[in-house]
Amino acid sequence: MHERESWGSNFGFLMAAIGSAVGLGNVWGFPYKMGIGGGFAFLITYLLLVLFCGCVVMFVEMTIGRKTGKSPIRAFLEIGTFKKLGWFGAICGFLILAFYSWIGGCCIKYLFTYISELCGGAGFGGMSGLDYFVQFGSNPASGIFYLGLFMLLTLLVVQGGISKGIEKFNVVGMPALLVLMVILIIKNLSLPGASAGLAFMFTWPTEGFNFFNTLRMAGGQMLFSLSLGMGCMLTYGSYLSKKESIPKNAFIIPFADTLMALLAGLMVIPAVFAFGLDPQGGPLLLFYTMKEVFAAMGSAGAIFGIMFFLLLIVAALTSAMSLLEVVTSCAIDVRAGKGKSANRRPIACCCALAIFILGIPVAIDGAGISGLMPQFTFLADGSESWLDLYDTIAEGLLMPLGSVLMCLVVSRKLGFDWVNEEVTACGQKWLAEGFYRVSIKYITPVLMSFVLVSLFLSYFGI
Ligand code: PFF
Repeated sequence: MHERESWGSNFGFLMAAIGSAVGLGNVWGFPYKMGIGGGFAFLITYLLLVLFCGCVVMFVEMTIGRKTGKSPIRAFLEIGTFKKLGWFGAICGFLILAFYSWIGGCCIKYLFTYISELCGGAGFGGMSGLDYFVQFGSNPASGIFYLGLFMLLTLLVVQGGISKGIEKFNVVGMPALLVLMVILIIKNLSLPGASAGLAFMFTWPTEGFNFFNTLRMAGGQMLFSLSLGMGCMLTYGSYLSKKESIPKNAFIIPFADTLMALLAGLMVIPAVFAFGLDPQGGPLLLFYTMKEVFAAMGSAGAIFGIMFFLLLIVAALTSAMSLLEVVTSCAIDVRAGKGKSANRRPIACCCALAIFILGIPVAIDGAGISGLMPQFTFLADGSESWLDLYDTIAEGLLMPLGSVLMCLVVSRKLGFDWVNEEVTACGQKWLAEGFYRVSIKYITPVLMSFVLVSLFLSYFGI
């Protein structure tokens, strides 16, 4: 029988959960979605959603996870309502990791390029950030190579098991990334023209603002960034010791994640304006903006570039590991439930291989740059790449839906006594009980339903 491991300490759990939350979603996703989603309007919507949905769904997932002690698939089977809900995690895990690994691969590519710059190699070959990315995105072989490399790295760390593999990675990498980002923010804010970026981030009204579009993007981004709505935090919660406080953890993780997202916004958006780039530049915004930032630093730029992409890769890996962990733990529990052998290593390898294959179209497509893959027009605001397709199915549809259903499972089926028993198992009172009760019952499902509705409205061009 497969035995569940548990976290070495609450600190280890927190670092791993924050490690899952903080990743490319914050540093790569948040700034570009803020650029498209209406600047300040996006920011305000995002913050409200973190409070009224993020903290709440985090709490719900961790409670269900710890109480059942199972992977999402077996947890919902046992609960007996929305029995298939656990599969959301597996599906989202597959879809997200497929494109996430390609973006992680892009970071590795940039890391190598900065190393080559430093060593006097070809580096960026004098190209602008945008041109360089266009060249990379148009090369499917290179895209597939870096996708595979990132996937392989992820697999290697997951093979180490929960506490050994994941905890070690986070403790050093994340604080280091935070410090580096603060240095870059200070530097970028001193660039001429950066204040226009601050105005874009912090003043109302913003141009090109469509309420439903902003809501859809902020809602999806919030769930993606906090790793919610697909059972990731449920899986992590299942490894959490009964001694620890769930409400406390369910507040600290969103707080840390949102801080990192805000810092990433402050690092990228003012620089976008200072260099005359387009804030609506989409998924590649981070890559070509940071290239200009480092280029403006002169000879120190390559060193900063190396440090930045190295730490970003660490942050991306800790998130990718959690995605692979969800998929793997689902597979392990399904097999163990059927009485079959549930050996972590071969199962994780098979999952990683399947995800790599799913990521190949994303890598060939190069975020729509290569022109080698058909594009989609399922949302009325333009053409969508394969990355957008996977992203929209996961964070636009399945994660908000998963969040609504999880809240319903708690309020309609399990009841608040069930929750209370688990939350107070640590010997402390249920902190902010009233807030959680009202939010789980009404506020969160309603807001998340609006996020879903806004996806359909975007689909019809409203
Ligand atoms: N939260 C991660 C990020 O912001 O990069 C991405 C992610 C990890 C999403 C784990 C979902 C998940 F289950």
